[in-house]
Amino acid sequence: MKIAVLPGDGIGVEIVKQALRVLEVLRSDGLKLELEQAPLGGAAYDQYGAPYPEFTQKICRAADAVLLGAVGGPQYDTLDFQLRPERGLLGIRKDLGLFANLRPAVLFPELANASTLKPEVVAGLDIMIVRELTGDIYFGQPRGTRTNDQGVREAFNTMIYSEPEIRRIAHVGFGLAMKRGRKLCSVDKANVLECTGFWKEIVIDVAKEYPQVALSHMYVDNAAMQLVRNPKQFDVIVTGNLFGDILSDEASMLTGSIGMLASASLDANNKGLYEPAHGSAPDIAGKNLANPLATILSVAMMLRYTFNNEAAGSRIEAAVKKVLGAGCRTADIFEPGMQKLSCSEMGDAVVKAM
Ligand code: IPM
Ligand code: MG
Repeated sequence: MKIAVLPGDGIGVEIVKQALRVLEVLRSDGLKLELEQAPLGGAAYDQYGAPYPEFTQKICRAADAVLLGAVGGPQYDTLDFQLRPERGLLGIRKDLGLFANLRPAVLFPELANASTLKPEVVAGLDIMIVRELTGDIYFGQPRGTRTNDQGVREAFNTMIYSEPEIRRIAHVGFGLAMKRGRKLCSVDKANVLECTGFWKEIVIDVAKEYPQVALSHMYVDNAAMQLVRNPKQFDVIVTGNLFGDILSDEASMLTGSIGMLASASLDANNKGLYEPAHGSAPDIAGKNLANPLATILSVAMMLRYTFNNEAAGSRIEAAVKKVLGAGCRTADIFEPGMQKLSCSEMGDAVVKAM
């Protein structure tokens, strides 16, 4: 199993370090792993002058899976758009064809009080958001800024989806629904945007191949509202790149901390990039305060989705549950009466639990 390891920026470095310790445990128990590190984002800009340089491209293309920390930092905010760390992330997604972004929002019962919502609203929450990741307004052409005929400056982007792009992500959504609660909610803005009206039409067509799945449709504004009103009505949500970006952040907070949420970005052959759903948190970077659990849980997703190793994936998840059950908490999920741990101490605890 060839894994490219991209710590990235900010807390990415600290959390990936803890995730690697988890992989080391699996290695010492016989799993054959080949790890290669490369920079992405700001770290890559500093070293190579580009956020997704050739050095990193080569390693990632040759790998079976990529483990990523996070990218970004205030020192890069004034750079040209093309050089920003975020461009590294968008670049690797596009380059590797990682069109299916799986963002589970699962509430560990131990953390029911960490949510800002009432425990009864979120207890038992288990949603899977399937976000299309390589199309939509994120990549649509034309894009840019210009001065129009009246001499007024303006900026524009293009929201666009092709039929094959919608079909393949719809299949991912239906496929996951089949393995879970057999409910799929497709989120669009079909009342206003042609692009997402087309999305809806294609999803309805794909649904014919999945008669056992109950398909529903929701406008994105309503979906944002329903996620906080009654999130347990959802099983799998499938949506485009932009809506998925927004709704997945919202869904993550239902679980108490974005520091708990893993994600997978898969290509057509289950090669995947695995990363926590959160960002690089420059404000706490280098302080050994970050929560490494989302990254550790991303390793569990990697084992499950790319390497078909359900046993190893479950083993990691069980270890995380165990440390939470024992009262171990990083600052972001801390409650009085619990044991407050640093990032590396949380890593120690998970390794020990494994
Ligand atoms: C995410 C992030 C990225 C996105 C940024 C950092 C480019 O918000 O992965 O959700 O918008 O996709
Ligand atoms: Mg986002």
